[in-house]
Amino acid sequence: MVLSEKEQKFKVTPWEVQGDVDYDLLVKQFGTELIKPELLKRLEKHTGPLHYFLRRKIFFSHRDLGWILNKYEGGEKFFLYTGRGPSGSTHLGHLLPWLFTKYLQDKFDVELYFQMTDDEKFLYNEELSIADTIRFSKENILDVIACGFDKKKTFIFSDIEYAKTLYRIALEISKHVTFSIVKGTFGFNNSTNTGLIFFPSIQAVPSFLPSVLKGKNIPCLIPASIDQDPYWRGIARYVAPKLGFYKPAQIHCKFVPGLGRGGKMSSSEPETAILTNDAPELAEKKIMNSFTGGRATIKEQREKGGTPEICPVYHYYLYLFAPEDKELNEIYQDCTSGKLMCGDCKGKLGIRVKTFLKDHQKRREKARDTVQDFMLND
Ligand code: TYM
Repeated sequence: MVLSEKEQKFKVTPWEVQGDVDYDLLVKQFGTELIKPELLKRLEKHTGPLHYFLRRKIFFSHRDLGWILNKYEGGEKFFLYTGRGPSGSTHLGHLLPWLFTKYLQDKFDVELYFQMTDDEKFLYNEELSIADTIRFSKENILDVIACGFDKKKTFIFSDIEYAKTLYRIALEISKHVTFSIVKGTFGFNNSTNTGLIFFPSIQAVPSFLPSVLKGKNIPCLIPASIDQDPYWRGIARYVAPKLGFYKPAQIHCKFVPGLGRGGKMSSSEPETAILTNDAPELAEKKIMNSFTGGRATIKEQREKGGTPEICPVYHYYLYLFAPEDKELNEIYQDCTSGKLMCGDCKGKLGIRVKTFLKDHQKRREKARDTVQDFMLND
C-alpha cells in the first residue's frame, strides 16, 4: 500500500504513536467508523445527558456500537473489557479510557474485565524483567481501582498470574492465527521474538472470557484508545466466528498529548507526562514548563492570540480539566482573542491538576486494602 504524504507524517501502533495523528484518516486506515449523531442519540436514551467525552468527540470512533445497543435493548447485557500494559507508572492519558469505562459501567450496570498484560510488556521492552512488570502491574492496579469501579462487578487479572485459565482459550485462538496474519497486522518480522508473535492471542482472550466462564455467549464492548484496535481487527474479531463467539465491539478515544510539541503522553517520556504518582508540586512544575500554542511575546499574544489547536495545556482542559462546556469555550475564546496569557492559563491548570492528583493519590492508597476483592484468580 502506498501511503499519502499526510499518512506518512504519523504512525499509530499498539506500542508507538508518532507525529500529529489525523484521526479521520486513521479511521479510514483502520476501517473503523466515526460515531455519528444518530448513534449518540441512541446512547443518550440509555445514559441520559451525554458525557463530555462523547459530546467533544474525544471518544470518536467505534466498531459495532449499534449492534451492542441492539443486543442491550433486546435484553442481552454486554460486558466491558479494557486493560493496561504495565511498563511503568500510570499517566493521565491512561485514565481517560478508564474513567469512560467507569461511566459506562455505571450507566449500563455491567461487568468489567480488566487485563494487566505484564507478559506483553516483558516481551516488548528489553529493559524490563518479569519481576518489574509484575511490580508495575500491582502499582497500576491501584490506579484502576482509584477510578471508582464497582468491586462486585469488576474483575482484574494479570496475564502471568491468571495464565492457567487464559492459556487454554489462547491456544484455541492461536490455532487460527498464522504468522502471516500477525505480521500483516502488527508489522512483526523475522527479528520479533516468538513470545510477541503469540501474545496477540492472549490479548484477544478476555473478549470471550466471560462467555467461557459462564458457558453462554455474552456481547463484549471494549473502550480504549484507538492504538489498541489492531488486536481486535486482526485477531479477536477474526477468530470470533470460527470459535462460535460474538465479535467484540469497540469504542475508541483519541490520545491525550504529552507536554512537549506533538506526540501522545507516554510513561517512557516522564518529563512531558503527568504520572499519577508524581508529587502534585512536580506535576504543577511540569505544566508550567509545558509547550503551548502561545506567541513569542506578550505583545504579540495580545495582538494575534494563541493557537489552542496545537496547545497541550488547552487539550488538558478539553480532555480532563474543564468538564463544563461554557468554561472551555471561554478559555478558547480568550486564548484566540489575545485576552488570556499562557502563564495564567497554565497556572489555573496547574492548580486543578494538583488538586486532582492529591485526591487520586488518597484513593490510590485506600485501594491497597481492597485489591484482593477485585482480583480474578485461577
Ligand atoms: P497501555 O498500557 O499502553 O494503555 C492503557 C490504556 O490507555 C490508553 N492510552 C491512552 N489513552 C489516551 N491518551 C494517551 N496518551 C494514552 N496512552 C495510552 C490505551 O489505548 C489503553 O486503552 N496492550 C494494552 C493493554 C490491554 C488493553 C486491553 C488495553 C490489554 N487488553 C484491552 C485496552 C483494551 C496496553 O499496553 O495498554
